[in-house]
Amino acid sequence: MKITIKDIAKMADVSTATVSKVVNNKDKNISEATRQRILALIEEYNYVPNRVASSMVTKKTHSIGLVIPDIANPFFPEIARGVEDIANKHGYHVILCNTDNDLKKEVAYIAMLQEKMVDGIILTASAMRASDTLDLSRIHVPVITVDRDVEEEKIKGKIIVDNASGAYDAVRYMLENGYKRILHLAGPYTSEPSRARYKGYCDAHKDLGKDISEELFIEGFYTSEWGYEGIKAVLNKGIPFDGIFCGNDLIALGAMKALREQGINIPEDVGIVGFDDIYMTTMIEPRLTTVHQPNYQMGYKAAQMLIKFIEEEVIEKQQEVLKTKLIIREST
Ligand code: RIB
Repeated sequence: MKITIKDIAKMADVSTATVSKVVNNKDKNISEATRQRILALIEEYNYVPNRVASSMVTKKTHSIGLVIPDIANPFFPEIARGVEDIANKHGYHVILCNTDNDLKKEVAYIAMLQEKMVDGIILTASAMRASDTLDLSRIHVPVITVDRDVEEEKIKGKIIVDNASGAYDAVRYMLENGYKRILHLAGPYTSEPSRARYKGYCDAHKDLGKDISEELFIEGFYTSEWGYEGIKAVLNKGIPFDGIFCGNDLIALGAMKALREQGINIPEDVGIVGFDDIYMTTMIEPRLTTVHQPNYQMGYKAAQMLIKFIEEEVIEKQQEVLKTKLIIREST
């Protein structure tokens, strides 16, 4: 016979709600003795909660969806870790979806998460979007965006960083240290962080009275492959530069490989700066100067914000803008 929550409750002499709280790690108001008694019965009778049945009653599945655009980029797993740590602490499971920056996959995953009745969604939008809009018309649970900002009425909250100021600090540092022609290998202009970083790049030049040469701004992708090809293309065109500000660290890693292959020394011949501060930036020689993003904290805060909306502790829209930090290493 299949053991149900009612059987456990009866044997433990508590309500089914109490058993449910213990099962979902929401038992902070239950005495340790009662909690241990319930856990012992669950173990003894091998009780497995029926999440579908309970969700029909509570309309909650204690699960949240996390949609990220590139699981292979070390920047995003740190966001996922922050989400996971808070979700588990509050008794929520995480369903991770990787869209590979593919808009069709993004739409399909969001629809799948709604069908699976997740209680909420945390989303970093694909960088390759025609506009900054997102179709959430079929979504009836709270959605929080993290890192990449998109405009959609249903988005309840945002956790982002001040990308323009992070880029400004990096480029101003380079200009103040004598770099004269700084190449900007940018991520896709269809993502808000890329546009904001380009603004920071331009503002730093303007504030220091330096000209900006359009040939030094090249839009591409947040990948090392593109960083590698981008530098080779610039060298082939004979465009002179003495510094490179990259849209993210992966672009910088690819660019460094291409420079080394061409016998160009870093930083003696060319200085290079990345963005994100992924762990690989300290595993290479020279270690990469970059702009640190608090990605673990971004995930952590996004999950905290979402759970507040799920548990209806918060109604009004929320937004938090976190600070970046310039990390100076030997590549400049
Ligand atoms: O590295 C990937 C980039 O996309 C990061 O800079 C992050 O901001 C995301 O937008």
